[in-house]
Amino acid sequence: MATLEGKTVVVIGGASGVGFAVAEAALAVGAQVVVGSSQTARIEAAAARLGRGAKGYTVDVKDEASVAALFEAVGAFDHLVFTAGDWGHMFGATRDLDIETSKARMEVRFWGAARAAKYGVRQIAKDGSITLTGGMLAHRLMPGMPLTVASANTTEGLALGLARDLAPIRANAVCLGLILSEQVQNMGEGMVKAYTQNLPIPRGGTCEEAAEAYLYLMRSTYVTGQIVRVDGGASLV
Ligand SMILES: NC(=O)c1ccc[n+]([C@@H]2O[C@H](COP(=O)([O-])OP(=O)(O)OC[C@H]3O[C@@H](n4cnc5c(N)ncnc54)[C@H](OP(=O)(O)O)[C@@H]3O)[C@@H](O)[C@H]2O)c1
Repeated sequence: MATLEGKTVVVIGGASGVGFAVAEAALAVGAQVVVGSSQTARIEAAAARLGRGAKGYTVDVKDEASVAALFEAVGAFDHLVFTAGDWGHMFGATRDLDIETSKARMEVRFWGAARAAKYGVRQIAKDGSITLTGGMLAHRLMPGMPLTVASANTTEGLALGLARDLAPIRANAVCLGLILSEQVQNMGEGMVKAYTQNLPIPRGGTCEEAAEAYLYLMRSTYVTGQIVRVDGGASLV
């Protein structure tokens, strides 16, 4: 299996949650890690917590110039992981859609990922990879959230499009079920239980469990254009 030892991994969204766990796991197998997120104090604290030479950069993926500046500062690297996300993505039912607000809510997860790919590809190794982050709402459809479903699917579509366009650079996405990041834990035990109790694996996943999928995709040199679901079997029920 390809190794991440000595490779440089850039994790945008690495200040917390799944991105932080990916950074930790990559460091543990000998990678050099750069983490980026929009709040300077948070990303500096994350880099310090990670240790082992991890570098933290402030980047706002809503701002194209900020994303361009990040990759210029980082220079050549091997793997890009994108886990940046905001949490205002519940767009509402069809009749009540506020289109302008809905557009703005695609800025981080979708347009942010597109910006990261656009500027990341200028510096990424030819045998490198891009891994985006989607969510199970793309596949576990619920009434009252048509654009939430659409938004979740855009991420997966972008990963596929990038895989075709940027080859031989690989591109994939991880589709997350309910993962117990701080943000999710803040939603309360009741919500977590309600969402997970009927799953084949009836609990939320840990950030470390999610991170495994990103490491797999970075190391799997013959895998591109794939969506790996880390969802406790949510897509089966
Ligand atoms: N956890 C789940 O159950 C779950 C399920 C499905 C999908 N997801 C998606 O998976 C991703 C990771 O989830 P998570 O639970 O690990 O979330 P998280 O802990 O909130 O991590 C998201 C990260 O994105 C960064 N970020 C937010 N806005 C940004 C911006 N404009 N520019 C750059 N960075 C920005 C945040 O740091 P700053 O505040 O410093 O910017 C934070 O470190 C998110 O996209 C989330 O929506 C999560």
